[in-house]
Amino acid sequence: MTDQILVKGASLLGAASSDLLISDGVIAEIGSVSAPQARVIEADGLVALPGLVDLHTHLREPGREDAETILTGSQAAAVGGFTAVLAMANTSPVTDTAEAAERVHDLGRTAGLVDVQPVGAVTRGLGGQELAELGLMARSRAGVKVFSDDGRCVADARVMRRALEYVKGFGGVVSQHAQDPDLAGATSCCHEGELSGRLGLPGWPGVAEEVIVARDVMLARHTGSRVHVAHASTAGTVEVLRWAKGLGIEVTAEVTPHHLLLTTDLLSGYDPTYKVNPPLRPQEDVEALRTALADGTIDAVATDHAPHARHDKEHAFVDAAFGMLGLETALPVVATVMVESGLLDWAGVARVMSANPARIAGLGQHGHDIAVGSPANLTLVDPAATVTVDRDDSVSLSRNNPWHGRTLGAAVHATLLRGVPTVLEGKLV
Ligand code: DOR
Ligand code: ZN
Repeated sequence: MTDQILVKGASLLGAASSDLLISDGVIAEIGSVSAPQARVIEADGLVALPGLVDLHTHLREPGREDAETILTGSQAAAVGGFTAVLAMANTSPVTDTAEAAERVHDLGRTAGLVDVQPVGAVTRGLGGQELAELGLMARSRAGVKVFSDDGRCVADARVMRRALEYVKGFGGVVSQHAQDPDLAGATSCCHEGELSGRLGLPGWPGVAEEVIVARDVMLARHTGSRVHVAHASTAGTVEVLRWAKGLGIEVTAEVTPHHLLLTTDLLSGYDPTYKVNPPLRPQEDVEALRTALADGTIDAVATDHAPHARHDKEHAFVDAAFGMLGLETALPVVATVMVESGLLDWAGVARVMSANPARIAGLGQHGHDIAVGSPANLTLVDPAATVTVDRDDSVSLSRNNPWHGRTLGAAVHATLLRGVPTVLEGKLV
């Protein structure tokens, strides 16, 4: 007999408790199961979710292995309850060829903790002008389906149009970092508003995001192709998305955990931990993003996990790198903001953190219902836990953690990738 695992008494998506028998990496039986040979995971009081999928992770390898590697990023992902992550292309060198994509894919396989799916660059070297090898990356062993110049906007409408036309041929999607460079300005470092004026920090307005989202949904309509809005951050973006979806335009969107909870007020102490792109926004935007995630206008939560070495982050606010850690804290933040408030139930969390991101990214092995025959990619969550985040507990190589010192509700107890535990009792196996 092959190795079997029996998850005892988990609440499936927060509903009735059941045992799950896992055999050969697949859910073999659900109900009241007796399997004397199986290894038991006691799940009394835990909620079982399909393994989480992150549409937006920066793993920094190749090029900045001092900040994160594919192995350490995979470890952080597993601890956070993820079974698949999309690795952004803004590495050094950029993931803009089939070979580069295959290398990321293979390093992910070697780490073996989560499925690491490379995102391909839209343009060569993220230069914004010449399309990268989109077709070759799609046909490569890595099977790239999501393309993004994230960190930079595909600002040229002609280039964006061509990219959308191209990826349509193989069912791909362009994930856009929506930020008009002329409106944003090269030296801006935060949200433009009353506070940025008072602090003397150059900011950029929400409309820099909204004009690109508006343009891109029209290009998606024109081309009949699919666009995905990365890290939506403003109420205006939500309005455009709602309008476009109402017309049946093929657009999807993600929001980060930090844009669901943190606001621009945190910048008053000039702490670069809170410097991120898109920037933290006022409370009205945060409220609109929560509502949009609850009603389906925003499809998914994605971390934008952006590790940075100390010497890139510990600078005066204007000079520090943009970005914050997110993989290990995403589920607790979503539980705190969305579940405790009643905006989402656990089935809703499964939708926005697993099923929808898996569908958007075309990951056939992820985001399944917890059902007999589904791949045993599972996350067990303790909904009653409260955890005070300590940045030094992180398995990431970086420490730019905006949640340090905060108490969050719920904790990831276990993660299983194709039936193999990667995390048990909250610790890497
Ligand atoms: O804050 C950010 N950090 N936003 C991005 O778009 C890129 C990312 C990074 O790569 O550090
Ligand atoms: Zn981005």
